[in-house]
Amino acid sequence: MRIAVIGRESVGSGLTWALGQAGHEVYAIGRNEYLSAAVSQVEPVVLATPYGAVADLAGKADFAGKTLIAVSNPVTEDFSGLQLGHKTSAAEEIRSQRSGATVVKAFNTIFVQHYETGLKVNGQPVHTFVAANDEATRETVKSLAAEIGLEPVDADPLANARFLEPIGASIFGSDTSSVTAPGSHRAGNFPDTPNPTEHLI
Ligand SMILES: NC(=O)c1ccc[n+]([C@@H]2O[C@H](COP(=O)([O-])OP(=O)(O)OC[C@H]3O[C@@H](n4cnc5c(N)ncnc54)[C@H](OP(=O)(O)O)[C@@H]3O)[C@@H](O)[C@H]2O)c1
Repeated sequence: MRIAVIGRESVGSGLTWALGQAGHEVYAIGRNEYLSAAVSQVEPVVLATPYGAVADLAGKADFAGKTLIAVSNPVTEDFSGLQLGHKTSAAEEIRSQRSGATVVKAFNTIFVQHYETGLKVNGQPVHTFVAANDEATRETVKSLAAEIGLEPVDADPLANARFLEPIGASIFGSDTSSVTAPGSHRAGNFPDTPNPTEHLI
């Protein structure tokens, strides 16, 4: 598959590396560069930016008909809580901002460090929950998850992101130093990841 990962740092770099290792053609898209071209030429698109940045991206590319994998957990800037929840979720808000896109919640409970250990803990695959309203899309993303070595768990409709996002936020625990330490889990941790964005022009 041709896949775009928007957000090139911690989680974005890990997913770009893992999907590339699984044989996919993956484009790591930074702030605005190649965004519109990438979104028009790939399927699916992974949103691996902070939740606050997602609204920004809405007018910059046509997401209609696309599968959007929303990794974002809507944490507050100091990671002390969630910006939204209970009656909605980041994934549902993204869906309401992108008419015609199919939004999937996945990969949001995987701490970035797991990418560096091949998505295994003690030799066992890390689980990822996959929630989406469209069953076929859910199955596609579950297959992608399995291809990169994860154990996918079907989490049914997208509204279940209301439960999954607090879990994703809780993986940081009370110690957020590893999340905020500059350069601790950056693109440089996966230096051999190809990024053939010139093909997108
Ligand atoms: N870190 C984890 O362990 C973890 C685990 C599960 C889920 N998540 C979720 O995954 C998302 C990304 O987390 P992260 O830790 O990878 O964050 P990060 O290291 O801060 O990286 C965020 C990326 O988003 C890019 N970005 C920010 N604003 C943008 C915009 N307006 N347009 C395009 N790109 C933009 C940043 O670009 P610049 O470098 O140019 O700023 C950076 O590449 C978050 O929503 C987080 O809740 C994180």
